[in-house]
Amino acid sequence: MLSQTHAAALAQTEQYDLGMDLLSRLQRVTSYSERLDILEQAEEQFGQLEVRAHALRVADAARALSLHCGFDETYANRLYNATRLHDIGKLFMPTQILEKDGRPTDDEYALIREHARHGGDLLGPSAPEFVRNVARFHHERYDGKGYNNLVGENIPIEARLVQVADVYDALRSKRSYKPGLSEEGTLESMIRMQGYGVMFDPYLLRRFVEMRLAADHDRQISPEKAEEFAAFAKSRPMDDLAKAADPAVFQGWQISADGQRRRKVFDETIKYDVLVEKRDALGEVKFRLEDRKPSSDMAREADNSNIPAPRGPRF
Ligand SMILES: [Fe+2]
Ligand SMILES: [Fe+2]
Repeated sequence: MLSQTHAAALAQTEQYDLGMDLLSRLQRVTSYSERLDILEQAEEQFGQLEVRAHALRVADAARALSLHCGFDETYANRLYNATRLHDIGKLFMPTQILEKDGRPTDDEYALIREHARHGGDLLGPSAPEFVRNVARFHHERYDGKGYNNLVGENIPIEARLVQVADVYDALRSKRSYKPGLSEEGTLESMIRMQGYGVMFDPYLLRRFVEMRLAADHDRQISPEKAEEFAAFAKSRPMDDLAKAADPAVFQGWQISADGQRRRKVFDETIKYDVLVEKRDALGEVKFRLEDRKPSSDMAREADNSNIPAPRGPRF
């Protein structure tokens, strides 16, 4: 499970024995609930209190975002419980790297990246896929430049929700190598990050910004910035995709019977985002983007078409 370099880094720490003990205890149980008990105890033993506090804050934010997007309570609670464990793979990360004063080196960063895979492994095959998806894929980026290079709609929706909440909390939090950003600075950074490729699910990022603006009762965001963020929240998700350098960001979209490539990406009651694929004389794909409100025709067509239901509940 651990790479050689990782095992070597861990061997020099007192976490090594705890880690080996954890693995052998996990090997003796098969049910997911028993594994969960062991993992929760391990978190205490490993003393990763900040990792746990972060996981709880992210779980709260992911839950709130899912409700804001129209998911129901049952879904939101499932997401909370899964998100609570999203960084469980950090149990195997040497504490001196986690708590390092300063930026991690390239080697250390390579170890840090392992936590997503370890999380999936620790939860084990008996864990619900939903829970494992959150652990394994919460560092994907919509443009495919994340840990596992999943792209766009191929990233499970549960992981896309958690990614937004996770980055928000990471930016807000003070770390040994950086101060925590203000609410305003955090939202501004997230919108700026979206401009370099497409980091987040464009729809979810807009709903998240909208949700944080609505929650800003004590005016931590200046009126000018609030206006700018509100304009972003109202802008078209498809505008982000149009800026993506790699057309693979459209992977997972379906080609409908009339040859158009389209996907019901977002809430059918809000809008359809439609992508029309055009080819030039040499057969090279050129894209033209359209953004239409659903007409009753389109709604009917969408019901009958072979467009698969979106992953997870509709929202
Ligand atoms: Fe993580
Ligand atoms: Fe995290």
